[in-house]
Amino acid sequence: MTAHEKQAVEAEEKRTDTVADEPTSTDTPPPPGTPIIEVENIGKRYGNVIALSDVTTSVRAGEVTCVLGDNGAGKSTFIKILAGAHEHTDGELKIDGISRHLSSPRVALDLGIATVYQDLAVVPLMPVWRNFFLGSEPTKGFGPLRRLDVSTMKTTAKDELAAMGIDLRDVDQPIGTLSGGERQCVAIARAVYFGARVLILDEPTAALGVKQSGVVLKYIAKARERGLAVVFITHNPHHAWPVGDRFMLLRRGKSMGDFPKSEITLDKLTAMMAGGTELDALSKELESSLGADSELIRDMKAETRG
Ligand SMILES: Nc1ncnc2c1ncn2[C@@H]1O[C@H](COP(=O)(O)OP(=O)(O)O)[C@@H](O)[C@H]1O
Ligand SMILES: [Mg+2]
Repeated sequence: MTAHEKQAVEAEEKRTDTVADEPTSTDTPPPPGTPIIEVENIGKRYGNVIALSDVTTSVRAGEVTCVLGDNGAGKSTFIKILAGAHEHTDGELKIDGISRHLSSPRVALDLGIATVYQDLAVVPLMPVWRNFFLGSEPTKGFGPLRRLDVSTMKTTAKDELAAMGIDLRDVDQPIGTLSGGERQCVAIARAVYFGARVLILDEPTAALGVKQSGVVLKYIAKARERGLAVVFITHNPHHAWPVGDRFMLLRRGKSMGDFPKSEITLDKLTAMMAGGTELDALSKELESSLGADSELIRDMKAETRG
């Protein structure tokens, strides 16, 4: 190698040291409870359609903020505002105390806000480690010798998954062979590794069975332990309750309230979710046609209690 080449190698190494995608997870996270995102009376109109209005809550380091609501309640609209996918049209969004309009997901990501959507963008036939680094692959060498740093990717993916308590037999297996829950977990570990401070999860348990949901809930708790602020969207209060620190309820685009865990109970949350009196009326109506002993009626009655 000539002296000139050597210089170029060194310059290249310096350059890759400072690329934007470098993980920043080694930074010390802010103390638990520090507000990272604060929204005040935030809203979103699509032309004449008011998808969301008057939502006030905060997303804090080391806490899980649950966003609950039925289909069409405005949950996705709310997180799209935080994720930079849609700009809000009303109210105020503050990040680290600074008022902002997020114009793109890239801007949100640069502020440390990562979103894991339900339909994960993974390449099923590619190995787990490859998916872990998709779009941010480390390389070694330079010029024509530049190539993917496969060994680093494999060991890093394995170590990072292990740090989240995810024990995969083999990071070489195609990600398509993992269960839905495991795939969600890989996406969570990936976001943590690439320096997310805020992790937004849009209904990560909606398509999963009981056991797989439990696995995902465990990693949500793990992300919180690592100091991340988590926004957990779900329509299931039984999933939200065990991991949540704060609960924000949406109904038809409006906030039904924002409660710290100390100020609400699971029963109350469930009743509010179910729409209380509305569900009561519906269950009475159904009772006359299905009979009081029907399983559906018993479930509905259990939900409206409390
Ligand atoms: N791009 C859009 N244009 C017009 N209306 C929309 C758009 N996106 C969502 N909405 C409306 O906003 C409301 C809330 O939707 P959404 O946030 O997807 O609810 P959720 O995620 O809770 O099911 C719905 O009534 C929906 O029809
Ligand atoms: Mg949705």
